[in-house]
Amino acid sequence: MKIDQLELDPQIQKILKNQGITELYPPQAEALPYVLQGEHLVLSIPTAAGKSLVAYLAIVQRLKNEGGKAFYIVPLRALAREKYEDLKAFEELGLKVGISTGDLDESDVRLSKFDIIVCTSEKADSLLRHGLHWIDKIKVLVIDEIHLIHDPTRGPTLEVIIAQIKALNPATQLIALSATIKNAVELADWLGGKLIQSDWRPVVLREGVFFHNVIKYNDGLTKKLPGDTKKALELLVEESLKDGGQTLIFVNNRKSTVSLAARLSCVVAGLLSEEEKKDLKKLVTSMKHEQAEIISIEQSLVTSVQNGVAFHHAGLESNQRRLVEQGFKDHRIKCIVATPTLAAGVNIPARRVIIRDLWRYNGNFGMTPIPILEYKQQAGRAGRPRYDTVGDAITIAKDSNQRDQIFYNYVLADTEPIYSKLGSQSALRMHLLAAIATQFVHDATEMYTFIQSTFYAYQTDEFTIKKEVDVALEFLLENQLIEQMNTGYLATLFGSRTSSLYIDPLSAIQLKTALERSNNQEAEPLSFLHAICSTPDIRSLYLRGADSWVEEKAEHIQHSLLLDIPNSSSDEYEWFLSDLKTAFLLEDWIEEKPYDALVLKYNIWPGDVHTIVDMSEWLLHAAREYARMYNFSCVSDINNLLLRVQNGCKEELLNLVTLKGIGRVRARALYREGFKSVNELRNVPLERLAKIKAIGKAVATNIKKQIGESSGHGNKALRGSKR
Ligand SMILES: Nc1ncnc2c1ncn2[C@@H]1O[C@H](COP(=O)(O)OP(=O)(O)OP(=O)(O)O)[C@@H](O)[C@H]1O
Ligand SMILES: [Mg+2]
Repeated sequence: MKIDQLELDPQIQKILKNQGITELYPPQAEALPYVLQGEHLVLSIPTAAGKSLVAYLAIVQRLKNEGGKAFYIVPLRALAREKYEDLKAFEELGLKVGISTGDLDESDVRLSKFDIIVCTSEKADSLLRHGLHWIDKIKVLVIDEIHLIHDPTRGPTLEVIIAQIKALNPATQLIALSATIKNAVELADWLGGKLIQSDWRPVVLREGVFFHNVIKYNDGLTKKLPGDTKKALELLVEESLKDGGQTLIFVNNRKSTVSLAARLSCVVAGLLSEEEKKDLKKLVTSMKHEQAEIISIEQSLVTSVQNGVAFHHAGLESNQRRLVEQGFKDHRIKCIVATPTLAAGVNIPARRVIIRDLWRYNGNFGMTPIPILEYKQQAGRAGRPRYDTVGDAITIAKDSNQRDQIFYNYVLADTEPIYSKLGSQSALRMHLLAAIATQFVHDATEMYTFIQSTFYAYQTDEFTIKKEVDVALEFLLENQLIEQMNTGYLATLFGSRTSSLYIDPLSAIQLKTALERSNNQEAEPLSFLHAICSTPDIRSLYLRGADSWVEEKAEHIQHSLLLDIPNSSSDEYEWFLSDLKTAFLLEDWIEEKPYDALVLKYNIWPGDVHTIVDMSEWLLHAAREYARMYNFSCVSDINNLLLRVQNGCKEELLNLVTLKGIGRVRARALYREGFKSVNELRNVPLERLAKIKAIGKAVATNIKKQIGESSGHGNKALRGSKR
């Protein structure tokens, strides 16, 4: 179907044509007439089948005609950016597009000026908790990757957002975009929407299994790749690249991403032109660490990228991940070895995807096979329209038996059905508290109506629902997060703040206990760091065999901890040590241990330091709020600690790091030279500051500008002084 056959605003048609979109894909042609009439929709079609465009058009046509707002909800920040950039193209219609992925403890007034808001599910949930005063203006709600309702943490959040928006603004049009799943009918029935399903894909994706130098494809064809039988990955990457095709390889652990990228470097580098090599050298210079700290671990990324191969996992810093993705999009990086985080919804030019691992480590069950849905999501990164006209997804078998099994279990298999995860106590206590705190529900009847509107209730019997909800409510009552007033429920101040701070009620209870105790016992920074690391909101570091030092050190510091210590023969003791190890990492961080040392000592990556630091900031912020609320004496200690965690430095640098562009490394350099505060930088000649290692002329000029001495010429009397 041609674009102009749709009753679309001519201006919208023009924008599409400018993007080279003139024809609709068949599932789009089927879906659009319904959504353009305002119907709810569940679109469950293959990867790359163009789901987003259906949602974009529904949004822009409706908003152009009627005004109002739209919410586009995605699971990951990287995806939010992609959708945001796509939607920006429609701004010439007079619609403003905004993105919001940041702080969860704010109402984000800035957002009210946008018409289309792209955000992650957590952000949308937190916005609802802060009272969206423009909720009645929402015309369209898009939930991208809705099959993630199956995910234990994101899933419940998604359900609750949908249930709340449906209740608060029943006129909202719901558009749910899903991978192909077995029970899409259930989703559509729950949402009361039209279901469009299809197997159609714009670029044919051939799935195959490689064994003994032969790829056997699902269309019955085979392809022989001559060469060393033991070098399957090398052969597959080489073959694709010789034909101009880039490769994305999925593996199940970070370590493999690095080692495999190094291994494939020779193959890829051998096929690069001199021009391409020069270009890659330029690319790596922008990959260096943002805080001017040299990280030896980065060297592995730099070396691989110089050879046209990159690795990609959550331990990289976010700007490094972005550069890798962009380098691949620009066809400078020819091969990426990634963990499966890159499998969700992104558009990248991989003509070939190799799924090396069909097994993944699971803490409770050891190695378990990955779900078919995940396999299909990974495979679906290959053969994306606009980038490639063909695509294949290959797994590697050890023998012919295994090859047949892979065909049976994955290639030819239907994806599994999805199930709600809202029934877990941790999800229920969090979301029930929020519902009460925001006064979305006032009593048992409303609570029941709310739960009944979720996908959880759709899939669960009444008896189980009642039992689980009662347990969660009892927990909230017992811990004084809510109280019962006649037949109604009301959040206490503690409960209401916990909900708006967007932390787990269990975390709140632990923090409160720790803060109370700090009133009567000596507390050090480590005491608070351990308290926050013990909460379920921080994912603690794994304890490895080589970490016996944690237990040894634990004995010396136990007296200073604010929470009870489990018996050393119990299972919980292992968790305690894990939490403590994470607290030690934060302690080292605020003692200014360099990244390199942290990375080595804790066997982590710089991105992990960021993740833990970010989460800790969040919990310290929460702790400070509770301390203020209860008038505990530790407010200023926590405040200092929060600043130290934010900046990764000792207390003595806190004044210097208030300057923009001055992180802990530069602040330390200034301090060492005798400049201990911003005030002491006044009237110091620019040249003097510029000479300091890690400062230089540009930073020195910037400092001078910030302290109001933009000319850069200090007080004559001080010029030439010893400093
Ligand atoms: N009608 C069309 N004509 C040309 N290109 C299109 C059309 N519709 C979508 N595309 C392009 O197809 C690509 C894939 O679209 P999109 O990201 O929406 O896929 P998807 O169905 O969401 O896949 P996934 O399940 O992997 O998220 C995008 O680059 C998009 O611009
Ligand atoms: Mg998508």
